[in-house]
Amino acid sequence: MQKKFSAVLYKNTETKQQYHKPYYTPYEDYVSFKNGTNPNFAIVKIKNSNSTQFFREDMPYTKDSDYSGFARFLNERFSEGKVNVYDFACSDGSEAYSIAISLIEEMGEEEAQRFFPIQAIDKDKQIIKKAASGTIECDTVDIENITKNTHGKFDKYFEIIEQNGENYVLKVKEPLKNAVNFKMGKIEDRLDDVEGSNKVVLCRNMWPYLSKESMFKAVLKLSNLDNDSLVVIGNFDRDHEMPSLLPRAFQLIGLKELDNNMLIKDESFERRFSNRNDYIMTPFNSCNYTSN
Ligand SMILES: C[S@@+](CC[C@H](N)C(=O)[O-])C[C@H]1O[C@@H](n2cnc3c(N)ncnc32)[C@H](O)[C@@H]1O
Repeated sequence: MQKKFSAVLYKNTETKQQYHKPYYTPYEDYVSFKNGTNPNFAIVKIKNSNSTQFFREDMPYTKDSDYSGFARFLNERFSEGKVNVYDFACSDGSEAYSIAISLIEEMGEEEAQRFFPIQAIDKDKQIIKKAASGTIECDTVDIENITKNTHGKFDKYFEIIEQNGENYVLKVKEPLKNAVNFKMGKIEDRLDDVEGSNKVVLCRNMWPYLSKESMFKAVLKLSNLDNDSLVVIGNFDRDHEMPSLLPRAFQLIGLKELDNNMLIKDESFERRFSNRNDYIMTPFNSCNYTSN
């Protein structure tokens, strides 16, 4: 279900120290604050939000919330063998289920098992508990997108167990439920668990919620991925970045864009620096904000 992002606005009457306390500022607010054209509200701290939806439109190779292009891309890129898919910051599971459905629809249930179970991880205990119970909330837009992406086979994957106006509670049926494995954890810690070859790491629409330290930790761990690993981010990660910090950090560790929000790890990150951590830390240190 799409919920609104919540934000706390900080007034310009606070001290400089207080100004720099919130660690994320949408770029336009930051610029207008710097220019003095936005004297009242300058810094916006983004609060954690579980906002998500089925077939969110900012997935690579996706048009009009149709994930078949994304599934085809994965199938062609990893034409054989086990594929290790990690969905960090998975929220209620909408994203992981959307991917699982499109893989099943694209290549059939048996062949799609190579990609399963998708390891879906989120730091929010409540949302993981609920997801692991096999139910999920959604709205009419989600229902339409599920119907479209399943070619009308909604009942194969879900059962509606409750409806209240435009809001629904769905029970996830077996083939789909088994395709996703939910775990609680923070990306900056759980990236150590990423294993095997053929890795796809989804970390979408979550970077603005991370402190600078957690972001640095996560980027450092992403730098350990093998070449050819795929990393997928979301539009929200771009819209709310502090002036180009995330793209710069990704560039430093050799992540290059293949398609919108789809990055590939290539050889440009050479281990020629005596202190790799310091090298990656540079853009974080030069960033004009603190998290404490
Ligand atoms: C806006 S939702 C994104 C959901 C989904 N990835 C999508 O794009 O629709 C952000 C999720 O990030 C989770 N999150 C925030 N910080 C995290 C962290 N450090 N590690 C793992 N998950 C985190 C939140 O609990 C929330 O469920």
